[in-house]
Amino acid sequence: MAAPPQFLEYINLNKEAFIDRLRDAVAHRSVSTDKQKVLKMREWLQQKLTEQDVIVSFPEPPNTDEPPYILLGKIGTDATKKTVLVYSHYDVMPVDGWNGPGEGTPEDRAFNLYRKDGKMYGRGSSDDKGPVTGWINVLEAHKQKNPPLPVNIRFIFEGNEEIGSPGLDDFIAAEVKKGENGFFHSVDCVCITDNYWLTTRRPVLTYGVRGIAYFTMDITGATDDLHSGLYGRMIHEPMTDMVKLLSKLVEPSGEITIPGVEAQVPPPTDDERKEYELMDYSVTDLRKDTGGREVELTENHADLLMGRMRFPSLSIHGIKGTFDTDDGLKTIIPANISARFSLRLVDPLTPDNIKPIVIDFLNSEFKKLNSKNKMVVHYQGGGFPWVGDRNHYNYKAAEAATKTIYGASLKPDYTREGGSIPVSLTFSNLLGKNVLLLPMGQSDDGAHTKLEKLDEDNYINGTKVFGEYLYELARMQ
Ligand code: BES
Ligand code: ZN
Repeated sequence: MAAPPQFLEYINLNKEAFIDRLRDAVAHRSVSTDKQKVLKMREWLQQKLTEQDVIVSFPEPPNTDEPPYILLGKIGTDATKKTVLVYSHYDVMPVDGWNGPGEGTPEDRAFNLYRKDGKMYGRGSSDDKGPVTGWINVLEAHKQKNPPLPVNIRFIFEGNEEIGSPGLDDFIAAEVKKGENGFFHSVDCVCITDNYWLTTRRPVLTYGVRGIAYFTMDITGATDDLHSGLYGRMIHEPMTDMVKLLSKLVEPSGEITIPGVEAQVPPPTDDERKEYELMDYSVTDLRKDTGGREVELTENHADLLMGRMRFPSLSIHGIKGTFDTDDGLKTIIPANISARFSLRLVDPLTPDNIKPIVIDFLNSEFKKLNSKNKMVVHYQGGGFPWVGDRNHYNYKAAEAATKTIYGASLKPDYTREGGSIPVSLTFSNLLGKNVLLLPMGQSDDGAHTKLEKLDEDNYINGTKVFGEYLYELARMQ
């Protein structure tokens, strides 16, 4: 153990107050697109952090069209100590169809933290307000118990993450340009707390994320919907074109069938495969996350993990413009439809190189259909993949901290994440410092779903890990 005993004691004694703090955070309905609420949440954070002696500022965005909704926090200026940069986000996904327990409308329940059997249900509980408040808990324990923080901390909390962090990269680049006067100047390493364990039993440290490229495809036919009995087989139907085109993107096996995508990704080496084989994971873990349904592509756990971490994937998210109620038979020919799909990317695939491949392919496939409808593919945004150096002291510190709290027998697995946190690569490239992903929640937390939760144990132990990590960092050479 590296942290003084009064730190862990304080966390143990204040569990209820910390849960109340998370409840307050979740009560802010800071869905990324609701800027008013995002700003209110940012003010709340400003107050909470200021109470803990953090110097908070809201930077002027370099590009005023896209304010990045950032909160910067600074605590500690001791040049003899290391400085760690902590990133989390305080915006959340929408709550459509929220299915969690509690009282009131789905929306009311989603933003009212509900405790049951050691779990706390609420939008953002795990992604990412649990970690955000976890850091505030760590600061409070230090202020109240008065051990000085072992390192200087710089916080960057973002309110735009779930919509692709517009403006964030520009902000970081502008700040780095300021040299010694820039916010990130003295940073030694970066800790991103925005991911989850691979299972419900073993912690992980994460050294990579997949990138993402997001597309929409619009197909337009007549000016309005038409009766299929009257016009079926008289006109080109947008939906027929759409399903033909979507079927060209990906096989049921998960293989991406856009030429020139899979081919770019080198096959895993034997050593790499072995690493995935050694990870504590099985198809049973996946089935827990899929609600007990056997929907897996394979039962081989190394192949499952490589599907998520090592290979690209393509998911079709939905088609808009069709019916979404089930009252009665809908026999129309929809005139205006739009599909969304995205690719998760691994090196060497990037949003820049994948964009023309996808757009050109769909245009050429559409031509083959000889349809008189209009089809347009739009690139909506994305982020680069990243793989970091897991041999750095940043990881050694996180591993030691995790073992202290969860026990040496639960040594964390080193994982890459299938999800995307584009700022990982930005920090790595622009600051030139090591980046670590240190999770609080676990695999079945259901981030982004209709039933998101965080376990009380993960919240409290995660808070302890964050604190221990700071002490371990301080000790690292
Ligand atoms: N917390 C997630 C990132 C994540 C996802 C980590 C899955 C671990 C596993 C983050 O909030 C998120 O969802 N990011 C978006 C990024 C996108 C909008 C650029 C994502 O991955 O879809
Ligand atoms: Zn997140």
